Amino acid sequence: MNCKQPKKSPLLEVCDLQTWFPIKRGIMARTVGYVRAVDIVSLHINRGETLGLVGESGCGKSTLGRTLLGLEKARRGKILFCGKNLLELNRRELREIRKSMQIIFQDPLTALNPKMNIIDIITEGLVEFRLIQGTREDHAKRLMNEVGLDEEAIYRYPHEFSGGQRQRINIARALSLRPDLIVCDEPVSALDVSVQAQVINLLMDLRDRYNLSYLFISHNLSVVSNIAHRMAVMYLGKIVEYGPTGDIIKNPMHPYTKALINAVPKPDSEEAKHKSKRIILNGEMPSPSTPPSGCTFHTRCMEAMNICREKAPQEVKSGKHGVWCHLY
Ligand SMILES: Nc1ncnc2c1ncn2[C@@H]1O[C@H](COP(=O)(O)OP(=O)(O)O)[C@@H](O)[C@H]1O
Ligand SMILES: [Mg+2]
Repeated sequence: MNCKQPKKSPLLEVCDLQTWFPIKRGIMARTVGYVRAVDIVSLHINRGETLGLVGESGCGKSTLGRTLLGLEKARRGKILFCGKNLLELNRRELREIRKSMQIIFQDPLTALNPKMNIIDIITEGLVEFRLIQGTREDHAKRLMNEVGLDEEAIYRYPHEFSGGQRQRINIARALSLRPDLIVCDEPVSALDVSVQAQVINLLMDLRDRYNLSYLFISHNLSVVSNIAHRMAVMYLGKIVEYGPTGDIIKNPMHPYTKALINAVPKPDSEEAKHKSKRIILNGEMPSPSTPPSGCTFHTRCMEAMNICREKAPQEVKSGKHGVWCHLY
């Protein structure tokens, strides 16, 4: 663990974060608009806690995760990590803090350099930060054991492993620098259903063993509901509902969250027998470069009222459960 901040304050606190991508046109590459991928997002993650981030493809989940790690440039806002605002640090300070924040991507193969063997891959960070004590082999074997892989395989190459094993290698690499926070960006979405649960169990074991915090991104609500303590539902660059996972699953408030929960197949439930009760999400998500006025969900919302077209909703809180919707 690298962060020595007092235990009580959140490990990560994001305030009013905005990440927009410029849309350029013409030979002068003039900026004609912006893709508002992340548009004023606030959240926090405590130590040892998993925050799930769900929403349809294209709603800004990866951009949010990547902005936290400095892989995309924030337009405004604050990212407080270990009490420091990452958007105000210089390069040297950022490099140091990046040890404590790692990311695991969806596609385990493209995340691994095919020309590097496993020992080089998983000890790269340790070498870069001069943290090798003993031999590189010792470190690599220890990391392989931690993620449930055969330690004798450290001289093999990524293509010699299965998808699940490759994701374990990515996890070993992310773990090598003893991070405090790992952004897991759809870490099991590319894997066979049969190995998804094994990789999720590994992530949960490691979280408990090392008191890790995760931002666990997924478009799959049932995956998130199994692993996250709290969750955030994102729509068109904004969080529309936020709170303890159990509360949200049992008592979803936002019509969008209700639709996402309804979309999860429930084979034996009454609802599945009487399909009439299902809430269907109509149409596609609008473009984040021209978001609708007012509540950006109003164009697809079955319960939209006049005010929804005109005014953006403020957060309504009940305990730790917050929702941005005019119905409340
Ligand atoms: N580098 C980029 N340049 C321009 N637009 C981008 C870039 N990365 C993502 N976007 C756009 O930002 C929006 C959010 O994308 P993303 O964060 O990948 O969503 P998600 O991970 O939820 O599927 C999408 O409209 C996407 O096309
Ligand atoms: Mg994504």
